[in-house]
Amino acid sequence: MGTTCSTPQEILVGVTGSIAAYKAIEIVSGLKKSGFAVTVALTPSALKFVTPLTFEILSGKEVYSEVFAEKTKVSHIEIAARASLFLVAPATANFIAKAAHGIADDPVTLLYLSSNCPVVIAPAMNERMFNHPAVQENLETLMRRGVIIVSPEEGRLACGSTGKGRLASVEKIISTVEKLLKKRSTLKGKTVLVTAGPTQEKIDEIRYISNYSSGKTGYALAAEAFKRGAQVELISGPTNLEPPPGVNVTYVKTALEMRKACLDIFFRADITIMAAAVADYRPVKKFDGKLKKSHNLITLELVENPDILKELSSKKKKTQLIVGFAAETSNLLENAQVKLQEKKVDLLVANLVGDGKGFGQDFNQVTLLFSDGRKHKLPLLPKEKVAEKIFDQIEKILSN
Ligand code: C5P
Repeated sequence: MGTTCSTPQEILVGVTGSIAAYKAIEIVSGLKKSGFAVTVALTPSALKFVTPLTFEILSGKEVYSEVFAEKTKVSHIEIAARASLFLVAPATANFIAKAAHGIADDPVTLLYLSSNCPVVIAPAMNERMFNHPAVQENLETLMRRGVIIVSPEEGRLACGSTGKGRLASVEKIISTVEKLLKKRSTLKGKTVLVTAGPTQEKIDEIRYISNYSSGKTGYALAAEAFKRGAQVELISGPTNLEPPPGVNVTYVKTALEMRKACLDIFFRADITIMAAAVADYRPVKKFDGKLKKSHNLITLELVENPDILKELSSKKKKTQLIVGFAAETSNLLENAQVKLQEKKVDLLVANLVGDGKGFGQDFNQVTLLFSDGRKHKLPLLPKEKVAEKIFDQIEKILSN
């Protein structure tokens, strides 16, 4: 909550030109009541629905409504830099498209491109517009870049029809902001790199070698890191999961692509968590087109993939912390202990897989092995809770 700091956290509220713009008045007033400082920015179309004066009185701050206004004393860069969170409510299809494509021709899009804080947007529009592939694709682009979407609700729309498109309730929007800012401090200023999911190694144009990893643990870790205030980079193999809010996602398919993405980011990561189930082998060559059926035995030649975790550990600086995973089908602790030493990680998360355990499940039972020899067995927990416990331990290591 905004009241926990001596200086209140500042929320930047962007209002765009939807009939729901009047609800932004209630949102700003609610955020102020929750103890946040608020600065409001309006697009020219929003000005047709609401006046800057209302927001100026409610927020107690100058409203940013003209890009080139001479009277504006602070620049958009300064306004964006102050914000702990940028909320755009209501967000029109026009704003969503411009934000997805980097167009900055009004106060709200200009602030969006200048901001470096979590961004929450609450779309509001006619249902047909909301469901249009252009809008959905733009929303997906924004989500992939870490923007948090507060989905519109079903209900009566301004045009008289009913459907999904009505701005989410003021309470839901405010509670999303509060939840995001509540725990945001313990990893503030840190960059966390997480790998997740399986890799797919192509055999031919339509077949691949992979494993049953669902990516749930890696995604839960990325979400938890974001909740604790970190800048999060998630490198994900193919999964069916929604990108976690607030997280930058790089999608990869193969182990080699994952290695490259990791090397690009690792040097600036304070904490690296390798939760991906990287395929240990890949076919030596990919067959062109579809490998034809033959009644004879065929031999698939495999070559070992690089061990990304080992490579990163060998480049690790003293200030960097690395967490590895060990998914084993037997002799869990013995195998995990070997991995902890071979891969030179600070913390190894070991779990049994196969036979309905680990991969693809919502719950997991893991044991944490530390580089100083300690072991800590956790009970069977939802993967989100496992992620919390892992970060509690990471924070303990960092504080020592
Ligand atoms: O050797 P094993 O695959 O069991 O090691 C598991 C750990 O190593 C995981 O943290 C996994 O993400 C990582 N790994 C890797 N590159 C590989 C294989 C595994 O980074 N090629």
